[in-house]
Amino acid sequence: MDNYQVKDISLAPQGHLQIEWAAKHMPVLNIIKERFEKEKPLEGQTLVACLHVTKETAVLIKVLIAGGAKVALCGSNPLSTQDDVAAALADSGVHVYAWRGQNTEDYYKCIEKVLEFKPTITMDDGADVVGMIHGKRQDLIKDIIGGTEETTTGVVRLKAMEQDGSLKYPIVAVNEALTKYLFDNRYGTGQSTIDGILRATSVLLAGKNFVVGGYGWCSRGIAMRAQGLGANVIVTEVQPTRALEAVMNGLRVMTMAEAAPIGDIFATATGDINVIRKEHMEKMKEGAIMCNSGHFNVEISLPDLEALSVSHRSMRPNMEEYTTKDGRHLYLLGEGRLVNLAAAEGHPSEVMDMSFANQALCSEFVAKSKKLDTKVYNVPKDIDEKIAELKLQSMGIKIDELTEEQKKYLSTWEMGTT
Ligand SMILES: NC(=O)c1ccc[n+]([C@@H]2O[C@H](COP(=O)([O-])OP(=O)(O)OC[C@H]3O[C@@H](n4cnc5c(N)ncnc54)[C@H](O)[C@@H]3O)[C@@H](O)[C@H]2O)c1
Repeated sequence: MDNYQVKDISLAPQGHLQIEWAAKHMPVLNIIKERFEKEKPLEGQTLVACLHVTKETAVLIKVLIAGGAKVALCGSNPLSTQDDVAAALADSGVHVYAWRGQNTEDYYKCIEKVLEFKPTITMDDGADVVGMIHGKRQDLIKDIIGGTEETTTGVVRLKAMEQDGSLKYPIVAVNEALTKYLFDNRYGTGQSTIDGILRATSVLLAGKNFVVGGYGWCSRGIAMRAQGLGANVIVTEVQPTRALEAVMNGLRVMTMAEAAPIGDIFATATGDINVIRKEHMEKMKEGAIMCNSGHFNVEISLPDLEALSVSHRSMRPNMEEYTTKDGRHLYLLGEGRLVNLAAAEGHPSEVMDMSFANQALCSEFVAKSKKLDTKVYNVPKDIDEKIAELKLQSMGIKIDELTEEQKKYLSTWEMGTT
């Protein structure tokens, strides 16, 4: 078996610097690494990870190896791999199979490749590894003690498997930790989506009508940051309470059909399919820009965009211009894949510090648990709280502690109006 497959191993020196830079902003993971080096909680485990191959992921991989795990890594999206980082990991002896710009066939081949390492623990971002194991590689299930899942869409898929009885080993839903979705999905996706849009287009956001598909954790972050840059933010939603929350946050809420003719920029992050489709694209104005930060490239209908167009050309890196039959130009960023990873570098290291601290500690939880039930677990509360505590500590921030009197007051019912 080849030890690795990357685009260009000569990119390793730049990749090493990138990883070093990320590690400087990931203090919680550094603390965990020090402990893992001593205690080796993952000794004897083979961990197969399918994650966006970024500089932050590289820092996590080194923590897992420090903990004693044998690791094989592939990318969790055809466009999200940072080739210099992949090269640096390969150069450090990691079994990595990932490069940017893979076609779908190569993407799945790399998952098949890492599965040849025969995992005892899986680490997914979008549940594609779990999907393949439960489909083509059921022979591996007997040796797998558990897995972890990074993102909302993956958790949705896993819960559907749990519901219909097809899930065959336990998974910890890292996404459900407060120290994950409150920060990664909101501030991480918020900042990096704007970063991706700006790198791909370099347009001014101030004064633009910026349509955000969804008002969940990711889309709230995108709306918040676009608003901060002076855009007129419009939100589309399907859940009344979330729509109401957007209204009360001072945003305009309307249907996508109403937003389509007035939007300058459209950014989706719903985890849903065909949020922007033919009937919307038909009404968009000349020059409208579309992008997506949801996990899969299905939120903007590419088949519809292609059917409406007579031609398309690449105008700038990560920006495709489509000319429609009625002569308009519509712009699609990063092929409709996660724009923050396709056109920028993904989430800043500071938020991935917490997401990946959850990954590291949840792998330890899986490795140390004698017998877990076959279901989707939430991240244990003590892990979540420890990560928040360590993050605050690393920022030099102290918080108050409950006094004995306050503890008593908060746990009894006798004292009312005085
Ligand atoms: N780009 C990244 O780096 C990144 C990071 C984290 C999560 N994600 C992905 O982003 C997506 C959203 O994650 P989240 O945590 O915000 O989920 P969430 O469940 O908090 O929010 C999704 C929102 O979209 C709304 N929605 C669903 N269908 C819709 C439709 N047709 N029109 C308008 N709104 C609709 C839902 O009502 C919900 O409020 C998922 O696919 C997740 O995996 C991406």
